[in-house]
Amino acid sequence: MADQAESLRRMARGARTLDHPSDARGRRIRGLAVASGKGGVGKTNTVANLAYQLAAMGKRPLVFDADMGLGNVHILLGIAPRYNLQHVINGEKRLEEVIVPGPGGIHVLPAGSGQRAFSELNGPEMLALTAELEALEDKYDIILFDIGAGISANVMFFCSAADEVAVVTNSEPTSFADAYALMKVLSRDYDKREFRLIVNSVKSATEAETVHRRLEAVADRFGLNIAIDMLGWIALDEAVPAAVREQKLFSQRYPNSKATASIKRLADAVLTSTTAGLDWGRIFSAR
Ligand SMILES: Nc1ncnc2c1ncn2[C@@H]1O[C@H](COP(=O)(O)OP(=O)(O)OP(=O)(O)O)[C@@H](O)[C@H]1O
Ligand SMILES: [Mg+2]
Repeated sequence: MADQAESLRRMARGARTLDHPSDARGRRIRGLAVASGKGGVGKTNTVANLAYQLAAMGKRPLVFDADMGLGNVHILLGIAPRYNLQHVINGEKRLEEVIVPGPGGIHVLPAGSGQRAFSELNGPEMLALTAELEALEDKYDIILFDIGAGISANVMFFCSAADEVAVVTNSEPTSFADAYALMKVLSRDYDKREFRLIVNSVKSATEAETVHRRLEAVADRFGLNIAIDMLGWIALDEAVPAAVREQKLFSQRYPNSKATASIKRLADAVLTSTTAGLDWGRIFSAR
């Protein structure tokens, strides 16, 4: 296990060095990993709706379903792509042949579902994927990675590969504890020091801020030495499960819902943090 973690660390570092020529060209693509530790807290809905809003604001987002083996972005969108990430990893398809259009002009890189053999990437596969992603630099402004639940090697890889990690939690202690555990492993073993926080399924900014402060206090108490910046919060809203059941994005199906208002604020926050100079222009690079 320790050996595996070390080789992954080396792999992630190796991947980061691949982007050296593009910084000089001022590449404008950014990777945001949306993770949570605990399953079912709203990562996929956040990523897909955020992409939809960013597209509505004139950006070119790619939704990367990084939940390999149990990917379900395509189910949320009601599409049935013929190919997925596993075909790329098998060497059967190029990344751009697998990407499909979604609602509102977003693009989606679907993951497979139920193919256990491919669910964990090995080192060479990680490097090959990194190179494929770099070839997308002119096509997208931002890649939103929908990260699987848990703290598997794949979760670590995609989180360490992206510029920024946004951790999703709700106000339940179980989700809170897993968000903390995820940040702990990423900071301890993968040198991630800065996290963005998205508090989902709450009633107000005040409730979200309480969760934020509690998480900061726990990180402090256990000497984690990390920064947790609030990126935004999403209202607890019946429009979310209603839209999921219809296999539609809530921001498209229920544009006047509270959840949609939250996602619009979140999209603004993502763009604002970008223009404030938060490592815009790099995808696989150390901070
Ligand atoms: N803001 C919200 N208000 C109400 N219900 C919500 C909200 N966000 C998520 N949900 C409910 O939680 C369910 C799970 O959401 P989602 O699939 O986005 O979670 P996930 O973190 O991606 O799950 P997994 O870990 O399995 O990939 C949704 O189908 C919906 O029913
Ligand atoms: Mg999901």
